[in-house]
Amino acid sequence: MTGTERSIILIGFMGTGKSAVGQQLAQFTGRVCLDTDEMVAQACGMPISQIFERLGEERFRDEESAVLHELDADLPSVIVTGGGVVLRPANVARLRELGSVVCLRADLPTLVRRLEKGSGRPLLAAENLADTVERLLLERQPLYDDAADFTVDTSALGPKQVALAIQDALAR
Ligand code: S3P
Repeated sequence: MTGTERSIILIGFMGTGKSAVGQQLAQFTGRVCLDTDEMVAQACGMPISQIFERLGEERFRDEESAVLHELDADLPSVIVTGGGVVLRPANVARLRELGSVVCLRADLPTLVRRLEKGSGRPLLAAENLADTVERLLLERQPLYDDAADFTVDTSALGPKQVALAIQDALAR
């Protein structure tokens, strides 16, 4: 199976543009776009912020892992994941089973600018956004790097340009 016949999975830190790029890729490829955050929210019957608040982060992670196992490996789709999906090695193994894993990244000032607008992300509720983003990125960058087949920097690109770059790379 070639890169373009398998699912395309987007991983990466919050604010790297996974959702917008996923929508664009779905449009270009005619595939369905599945968002694991949305699937978790639906399974729990509440938004992500409430899942963290009422049930805790660990429960959210359990639901996230469960959702990955419900995805159909035989249906080539675009799969958008939450920024913490790489925290569990079993999740990464599952994603690699499902298709090509593409990491989106962006530089720190760009991430902070994009995330400043606020979006109900529970992990970013702390006082100093830049410090929190920097700390989480330091912890996670090696995990993103290990999990990805390749990475696209979205700092200076719009969703359409990023989606085109991904399609190009997969067609090679
Ligand atoms: C998280 C990222 C969020 C969501 C949850 C936890 C994380 O998804 O899954 O708030 O740990 O980085 P986005 O990356 O789509 O914001």
